[in-house]
Amino acid sequence: MASLLSLPSLLFLLVIITSLLVHSSSTRPHRSVKPRGTMLPGGFRIPLTHVDHGRKLTKSQRVQGWIQRGKYRLEAFNLMATNDPGSNTTSVPGINIQAPVCAGNGEYIMELTIGSPAVPVSVIMDTGSDLIWTQCMPCTQCFQQPTPIFNPAQSSTFQIIPHTSAMCDCENKYVFNCNNGCNDSYVYGGQSSTQGYMAEDTFIFGDSAPINNVGFGCGVDNQGLGLTRGSGIVGLGRGPFSLVSQLGVDQFSYCLPSMGDDTNGTVFFGAQANVNYSTISANYSTPLIQNPYQPSLYYVYVQAITVGRILLPISKDTLALNSHGNGGMILDSGTTLTYLRAKAFYALKTAFISQMQLNVSETPQPGLDLCFDLPATGMTGVVVPKLVLHFLGGFHLVLPTENYVISEPWNGVMCLSIVASGNSLSILGNMAQQNLLVLYDLGKETVSFIPNQCDQF
Ligand SMILES: *[C@@H]1O[C@H](CO)[C@@H](O)[C@H](O)[C@H]1NC(C)=O
Ligand SMILES: *[C@@H]1O[C@H](CO)[C@@H](O)[C@H](O)[C@H]1NC(C)=O
Ligand SMILES: *[C@@H]1O[C@H](CO)[C@@H](O)[C@H](O)[C@H]1NC(C)=O
Ligand SMILES: *[C@@H]1O[C@H](CO)[C@@H](O)[C@H](O)[C@H]1NC(C)=O
Ligand SMILES: *[C@@H]1O[C@H](CO)[C@@H](O)[C@H](O)[C@H]1NC(C)=O
Ligand SMILES: *[C@@H]1O[C@H](CO)[C@@H](O)[C@H](O)[C@H]1NC(C)=O
Repeated sequence: MASLLSLPSLLFLLVIITSLLVHSSSTRPHRSVKPRGTMLPGGFRIPLTHVDHGRKLTKSQRVQGWIQRGKYRLEAFNLMATNDPGSNTTSVPGINIQAPVCAGNGEYIMELTIGSPAVPVSVIMDTGSDLIWTQCMPCTQCFQQPTPIFNPAQSSTFQIIPHTSAMCDCENKYVFNCNNGCNDSYVYGGQSSTQGYMAEDTFIFGDSAPINNVGFGCGVDNQGLGLTRGSGIVGLGRGPFSLVSQLGVDQFSYCLPSMGDDTNGTVFFGAQANVNYSTISANYSTPLIQNPYQPSLYYVYVQAITVGRILLPISKDTLALNSHGNGGMILDSGTTLTYLRAKAFYALKTAFISQMQLNVSETPQPGLDLCFDLPATGMTGVVVPKLVLHFLGGFHLVLPTENYVISEPWNGVMCLSIVASGNSLSILGNMAQQNLLVLYDLGKETVSFIPNQCDQF
């Protein structure tokens, strides 16, 4: 659909349809613009700070934020992923639709620098989108951001990407309006949109050496509410302009510490991503699944789920990606709760209720789908059934309790951090990924979940 629409009508549509976020492309995405491995001999790491860090929020305010931002993000992903033949928003292979910005734009911030001299910028890490993007001066319109707006005029290494560049090649076209060559028109959902152009400059990521000629979007006409806490986005998706693809790394990984702790996580690229996995004999890996209808996203296949003694009575394909690109489960850095397709969620709920020694809470907990009344002694002594995800290939992920239970989001209850997602996409959120090194191996097309204390790196 998108390729048939002119850009203004696309923009118009997107501004109206909140939470949808789209850009058009008429060709199949290419995997990588630059050859793998050329830019990154040693790998590097960057600390990740949670967006709630430093804000004086009560636990219930934090939980409300997770629910609210997750809701927007799920809506956006669902709009993108719904491949209903009767709908005009049907996605087709090769049309890539980006992940949401604005409300629900992401949960982890990382620092990088752009330009020479290097200017620090804090950006949101996003496994659900592809572009590296920030606001640039002079702005026709810019939204507020935590670090100063990048000024290309003050960087000696800044270059507008010429229309003849491979990044602007219409064959490789991914994020640009082809008629304007590298005049980029990139539209984000929620209540935000941005237009600008593609440029390149020298970036430093965490402890990396300066990396030259990193392509990024310079947004100069940015409307809406902006990002929650970032001055831009670094997309880690599968598309050719994501950081991962531009660096040509085969591996990246991240480790997110307990949400309750105010400690940083870490994201690793290249040679550092493996951390100590090569020294471990157990197999913590499952194949990554590609969805031709959503080429940016990282899918996994959970074939079965066990709660305590109960293997959920759901068929093997309940959480599978189907041939129309619907369903399946994505890994997402920008969603905190885990969203399970309704059929699976209700089976899970029944299994929990039958094995918990507590009464189901009668008080409605908006945004959470299963809560139990706690005794006066709180969580102490409460026994929670084990939750095991059985992945394609035979890997069983036994989740720590804190990865699926929120103790006292509100006084006197405990709730699952797993909720029902409706009838399509499922999302394995950040909370379920706590204290696991999540290693994406793009060479082998696997992802591994290796138990670790993520505040120890
Ligand atoms: C889809 O678009 C066609 C042509 O523009 C229109 O006739 C049809 O009603 C639309 N269908 C839906 C479900 O909006
Ligand atoms: C983008 O296009 C406009 C007109 O279409 C032109 O004036 C401007 O110089 C172009 N910008 C870049 C960065 O190519
Ligand atoms: C977390 O990372 C931020 C940004 O890099 C840094 O300012 C802060 O000191 C770090 N916090 C801890 C506890 O290491
Ligand atoms: C569950 O509810 C019943 C009826 O209200 C009550 O008698 C019982 O004490 C509750 N059990 C627990 C563990 O709270
Ligand atoms: C581990 O499991 C993955 C996914 O099933 C498989 O591709 C890989 O070959 C296995 N690795 C080893 C060392 O057995
Ligand atoms: C290495 O991996 C194991 C998980 O099997 C973990 O317990 C340990 O903390 C890791 N060590 C480091 C230094 O990452």
